[in-house]
Amino acid sequence: MAETLFDELKRYVGFDAGDEAALRALREVAAPRFAAISEIFYDAILAHDGARRALTGGERQVGQLKGTLQLWMDQILRGPWDDEYFLAHCRIGQVHVRIALPQHYMFGGMNVIRRQLNQVVDDHYLDRPHELAAARRALGKILDLELAVMLHTYREDLLAQQARVERLSTFGQLVGSIGHELRNPLGVIETSLFILRGRPGGDERSARHLDRIGEQVQVANGIISSLLDLIRDRPHSRERVHLAAVLSAAAEAVRRPDGVALGMEGLDALPDLAGDPGQLRQVFVNLVENAVHAASPRGAVRVRGRSEGGQVEVSVEDTGPGVDPSVQRRLFEPLITTKEKGIGLGLALVKRIVERHGGSVVYAPRPEGGARFTVRLPG
Ligand code: HEM
Repeated sequence: MAETLFDELKRYVGFDAGDEAALRALREVAAPRFAAISEIFYDAILAHDGARRALTGGERQVGQLKGTLQLWMDQILRGPWDDEYFLAHCRIGQVHVRIALPQHYMFGGMNVIRRQLNQVVDDHYLDRPHELAAARRALGKILDLELAVMLHTYREDLLAQQARVERLSTFGQLVGSIGHELRNPLGVIETSLFILRGRPGGDERSARHLDRIGEQVQVANGIISSLLDLIRDRPHSRERVHLAAVLSAAAEAVRRPDGVALGMEGLDALPDLAGDPGQLRQVFVNLVENAVHAASPRGAVRVRGRSEGGQVEVSVEDTGPGVDPSVQRRLFEPLITTKEKGIGLGLALVKRIVERHGGSVVYAPRPEGGARFTVRLPG
């Protein structure tokens, strides 16, 4: 049977039966310290500006994560270190990838755990140097394996993204030429409409139909513009942008039913940033439009801004049903949509623009229900 990736990783770090026995023995003595170690681990994260930002769910989330970290420590020392173990630990990595946690935080995090568990080894095997060395060696190997698995999930995600980009570039060329070709017949329809509208003596019903044709031509033109924006790497300008003004203009541009309330918070305190005001406006028009759509016919949309550690953060949230978990992973890909009308370009465009400004956008369900999109931009 072909060697699995996990077997290969184990072979590379030299993880063998002796290490397994040493880890199992260590587990007996380390288990009572798991709770204290997970406290120290999350204290270290909370003490760091950037890392703390990943913990968006407040104290409840931190409490839960302390529990999952204890389970994780138990698993790495208990084994069995088989393929099921590998898959389960890849899934943990995927959770970090999904929340766009920068991968370099993994090293610092693992170091905290390494130091704490090494301390347990040193305390326990004080006068048994051979066992101490064996336990330290085994611990070093399993924590290196864990880091390798975590980085593997980041790499897998990057490769998947790259494959999507390649698919899109072929697809993009096709879309680009179809888009351009469609502009011409649409232009002809518009000109003919203009001529027909100017003719006296038309009846009311025909006029209504002409209006509908006009509206639909505009919809079609809008779709083509979004498609072309998405595939074209339009250079963006770098002006000083007053984000509060951009956000207010974006919110005003979105049509909202009476039953949907719109709240804006913390925008005035946002610092100016360098970027393309037109494209950033598009980002927030798309996000607010989606939020209003989700919260309709009755509900609320809230746009909140804050700045911390040299970064600007704007979240757009709604009281709608939230995004179905099956769609969440692919939410920012083109042609993924949950709306009846719409072809799924809005969020792809948002991601594209935000990333070209050196920022990121993530989705997370609101703990109280509904959706929350968070845009982070360098301040
Ligand atoms: C380096 C060692 C680390 C280990 C062993 C670890 C372990 C875990 C585990 C077991 C989970 C639960 C996964 C699940 O729900 O199935 C998790 C989730 C999470 N971790 Fe880590 N983690 C590490 C590093 C970090 C760091 C450095 C941060 C923050 C800077 C972090 C932030 C989070 C967050 C926010 C979640 C929850 C995400 C969500 O459910 O939305 N982790 N981690």
